[in-house]
Amino acid sequence: MKNIFFLFFAISFISCSNSSEDELYTPIPLEVNVPSNFPEMVYNLDNNPVTEAGFELGKALFYEGKLSANNAIPCAFCHEQAFAFTHHEHTVSHGLDGGIGTRNAQPMQNLAYQSEFMWDGAATHLDFQPIIPLTSEVEMGETLSNVITKLSETDYYKKQFAKAFENGAINSENMLKALSQFMVMMVSSNSKYDKYVRNEDGVTLTDIELDGLTTFNQKCASCHATDLFTDQSYRNNGLSINPKFNDKGRFNIFENPEDLYKFKVPSLRNIEKSNPYMHDGRVATLEAVLDFYDSGMVDNGNVDPVFRRDDGTLGITLSDYEKESIIALLKTLTDNEFLNDERFAEF
Ligand code: HEC
Ligand code: HEC
Repeated sequence: MKNIFFLFFAISFISCSNSSEDELYTPIPLEVNVPSNFPEMVYNLDNNPVTEAGFELGKALFYEGKLSANNAIPCAFCHEQAFAFTHHEHTVSHGLDGGIGTRNAQPMQNLAYQSEFMWDGAATHLDFQPIIPLTSEVEMGETLSNVITKLSETDYYKKQFAKAFENGAINSENMLKALSQFMVMMVSSNSKYDKYVRNEDGVTLTDIELDGLTTFNQKCASCHATDLFTDQSYRNNGLSINPKFNDKGRFNIFENPEDLYKFKVPSLRNIEKSNPYMHDGRVATLEAVLDFYDSGMVDNGNVDPVFRRDDGTLGITLSDYEKESIIALLKTLTDNEFLNDERFAEF
């Protein structure tokens, strides 16, 4: 009798905490866009299926200052949608208390299709990537446990974690899963180029854009490969060593001398909007990027052999028209639907 009473009490207690309809676990699935011109998705959605409530929670977290020590630096501080989620007008980004980082904020797009993250591949799973900015002293400077405490004190998060996860727990595992649910939805695949490649809506490329595509396929696509525009390898493209940071890139991960000054080949999607360029933002414009490939490379000791010309010099020879046409092509990779997509915008 006593036990039954206790059970009754316990059930009424649980149901009491779930009394309002909208605090119940409600797994309404959301479909992740799988463009027909993309390679295989890497992220395993079976381990973290995207739901409406999980996505909404992930988005709230992405725009949430409480993820940082001073409650003022959300992820979106450095990842602004209009600029393909980069830190606009910053060569290297700055975060907590004006702390200056050493790298240019990468765009956030098509993350479900990537196996490694950051310029040097320091993160090998999307679910764990956010721990790096969250705990970095020059970015958000916070601890996971402090964040969880702060979120647990907020009615919205109590309700939203309960809706998004079966166990309803406000913990770092669920927080990271929700952030990933938001991030895997960020698919950019509706640029003019995509519509041309997929034969959609009668979209065609102009003569100069087509010429750019031909030159690009000959001279750039070995690294900026597939319709992701990256083969996801680490390469050294002949930038001079920046004395301010002496960032050794991929070398930092395994300390393998062959990796010196190699950085992850960046995607070129939305490149028109994500200036400045390169891992430290040292190049301001696309014109300057192409001038760099043509005549600005330096021998930093480990430049990719692809760039070695027959006469021993480094670079990719490009005529003025080739530069102009490649830029025309790169501009067809701007995806305004993605850049203006309300689903990713702040509430
Ligand atoms: C202070 C600025 C700043 C903040 C805040 C910030 N980031 Fe970043 N983000 C960067 C920079 C800089 C890089 C490149 C870092 C590197 O290569 O070491 C980056 C890289 C990334 C990448 C890798 C993209 C790729 O293609 O490999 C992802 C994903 C990402 N950030 C997500 C987030 C999330 C989620 C948050 C919030 C939890 C966040 N960022 C907060 C500046 C920031
Ligand atoms: C051998 C591989 C390779 C080839 C070939 C190559 N790139 Fe790159 N590209 C890279 C790497 C690696 C980076 C990043 C380097 C860094 O920041 O340290 C990069 C950076 C860029 C960037 C800056 C992107 C950003 O988000 O900052 C642009 C634009 C670019 N490349 C365009 C081109 C074009 C156009 C061509 C052909 C003319 C080309 N690349 C050929 C490897 C390559």
